[in-house]
Amino acid sequence: MTQNLRIDGERLWGSLMETAAFGALPKGGIRRLALSDEDKMVRDWFRAACEDAGLTVTVDGVGNMFATRPGTRPDAAAVAFGSHLDTQPAGGKFDGILGVLAGLEAIRTLNDAGYVTEHPLTLANFTNEEGARFSPAMMCSGVYSRDLEAAPVLASIDNEGRTFGEELARIGYAGDEEIGARRFHAFVELHIEQGPLLEAAEETIGIVTGGQGLLWFDGTITGQDSHAGTTPMTLRRDAMTALAAVALAVEDVARQHGPAGVGTIGEVHVLPGSRNTIPGTATFKAEFRHPDNDALGAMETMMAARIAAIAAERGVGIETRRSFRKDPTVFDPMVVDAIAAAAKDFPHRRMISGAGHDAFYVASTCPTAMIFVPCKDGISHNELESATPADCAAGAQVLLDTVLRLAR
Ligand code: HGY
Ligand code: MN
Ligand code: MN
Repeated sequence: MTQNLRIDGERLWGSLMETAAFGALPKGGIRRLALSDEDKMVRDWFRAACEDAGLTVTVDGVGNMFATRPGTRPDAAAVAFGSHLDTQPAGGKFDGILGVLAGLEAIRTLNDAGYVTEHPLTLANFTNEEGARFSPAMMCSGVYSRDLEAAPVLASIDNEGRTFGEELARIGYAGDEEIGARRFHAFVELHIEQGPLLEAAEETIGIVTGGQGLLWFDGTITGQDSHAGTTPMTLRRDAMTALAAVALAVEDVARQHGPAGVGTIGEVHVLPGSRNTIPGTATFKAEFRHPDNDALGAMETMMAARIAAIAAERGVGIETRRSFRKDPTVFDPMVVDAIAAAAKDFPHRRMISGAGHDAFYVASTCPTAMIFVPCKDGISHNELESATPADCAAGAQVLLDTVLRLAR
C-alpha cells in the first residue's frame, strides 16, 4: 500500500514559490528574520495550511509550532518532521522552509490517499534556527530539547534593542504549550545540503549521519578615538586595524585545523563610524566549526592566544565572550537506516552536516537523523540559493517513505 504513496512535486513547488513571497527581496532572495512581520506572515500561512490539512496546531512558549495528525494508536508517541521558517538577512527560498513544506506535502499525500499511520504525525516549525537576529542559532529547538534555558532566550536582544519576548508577543506567537513537554518517537529533518558535495557527485540524496561541532564567540576591541589627521601612526590605538588582525587570525586558526576546520567573522561594527576619526571601538561576531570536538577545543585555545598577542602588540583591549557551543552531533542509526532504505532508488551517499540544524538539538530528545538534497553550486545563506523541483520532490518522497517506515 505505501509503495504507491507518491508526493505531488508540483504542489510542493507551488507552496515553495507561494511562501517565497513572504520577505521576498528584489534580487530573488528572502529576508524573513525570526519574529519579524515577514515571519508572522509565513507562520500565519503555515498555520492555515496545516488546519486546512486537518492538523491540530499548537504553539509553545518560545513560538515553536507543532501540527499533529492523529494515528490509529493515540497512545503512541508521534513521528515528527519539519525544520524552520526564518531566514538569514539575505537568504534563499529553500533553507529551512523546504523541510517544513515537504512535511506538509507528505501530510497532504497521506490525506489524499486516506492513509492513517499507527503513530501520530507531527510537523514542526522551530523558532529562530538562523540565530541571525537573536543569537544563538538553533535557538528554540535548543529550548525545546532543554539544552538552552527559556528565560535568557526570551530576554535576548536584537541590534535594535528589541527583546525576543516582546517580538514574539507582538507577532502573536507566544504560545501556551509547555516547552519541551511534547516528546517524539523519532524526528526526521529534510534540508538542502548548503554545500557542494551532492551536486558535484551528481547524487540526489544525502543520508546525514551527524553534524559538526560549532563555537560562536563575540568580541569587543577597545582602542582610542582620535583625530585621523593629527595622530602620529606610532601613537594610534586603532580598533579597526586590530579587528583586521583578529579576522585574519580567525582565518589562520581555521586553516591550521584544516581541511575540516572552518572559521569566519560574519558581523562587525566599527565606532564611531567617521572617516576622519580613528575608530576606538570595534565589535565582532565570530565562529569556528569542526567535526572533531577536541580539534574545536584546540581552535578555541589557539584563538585566545592569538587575541592576547594582538591586544598586546597594538595596545588595545580585546575582551571576548563565548556565546554558543555545540559538540558534534551523532544521529541515530535506526533513523539513518530508515532513510537509507527510503533512498535506495536514488543516487545517494552518507555524509555529515557542515551546517547546524534544529535536528542537532532534537537528537538529544529522541532518535533523529536528516535527509539532504543538493543546492546549486552548494550556495546558501545567499540570495542565489536554489534547488531544482525534481530534487525537492525526491527529498519529499524520501521524507514520506522514511516517516512511513517509522510510523507504520
Ligand atoms: O549556521 C548554521 O549552520 C545554520 O544554517 N543556521
Ligand atoms: Mn537551515
Ligand atoms: Mn541557515
